[in-house]
Amino acid sequence: MKIIVANLKMNFNLEENIIYKNNIEKFIKEKDNVIICPSFPFLSFYNNGNYSLGAQNVSEYEKGSFTGEVSARDLASLDVEYCLVGHYDRRNNFEENDKIIISKINNIVDNNMNAILCIGETKEEKSCKKTLTILQKQIIEIFNRISPEKYKNIIIAYEPIWAIGSGEVCEINKLKEIITFIKNFMVKSYKVNSIVLYGGSVTEFNVLDLNDINNLDGYLVSTSAINIKNFEAIISNCRS
Ligand code: PGA
Repeated sequence: MKIIVANLKMNFNLEENIIYKNNIEKFIKEKDNVIICPSFPFLSFYNNGNYSLGAQNVSEYEKGSFTGEVSARDLASLDVEYCLVGHYDRRNNFEENDKIIISKINNIVDNNMNAILCIGETKEEKSCKKTLTILQKQIIEIFNRISPEKYKNIIIAYEPIWAIGSGEVCEINKLKEIITFIKNFMVKSYKVNSIVLYGGSVTEFNVLDLNDINNLDGYLVSTSAINIKNFEAIISNCRS
């Protein structure tokens, strides 16, 4: 069964979260391996479901006078098990750089949670056939500066920037090659069997083909997860 991470981004207020939660609880079963990532104020609202809880962000700082920040310690106390890091939305809009990403990963793992590290290439890099080089570089920048005992708590989400929210999904054969490359690189360089997800315009339709990629462990979905009907169809299409 593939893992399905639903990144709700900044889309639902309280009323909308109530509707969403009531609906998804009708169809998500424990064995579906779903991780719901609501915005901060609604994290505790989502606990106790047939899914795991993920946060969309965390502070790079541990504790103290950081007005407006949310610590990994805070998240862990709310039964959050996963936290996104290095998502393109944050790299692009909030200048989340490698140094910040590394601090966040350390805080997440130190608080017994798992980081979901997003990596991916731009359209230009793809057209210059630089995808694998870019991914390798992004992985090295982070993993070389993290202690090895933390590796097993880092999930990698391959999210090509050009595919996020664009309706354009990575071509299957290309994706097979990329996932195999990442997995092999992690074993060879860091001696870890990393969980690797794909994100970027996953829908209830293309997931049927994506499911054929055996070593792909799951998906990071936003647009299609926000729509209840599409989300239900994705989950049902992932059931074997
Ligand atoms: P999308 O977004 O599913 O809308 O392409 C994925 C993401 O932003 O993580």
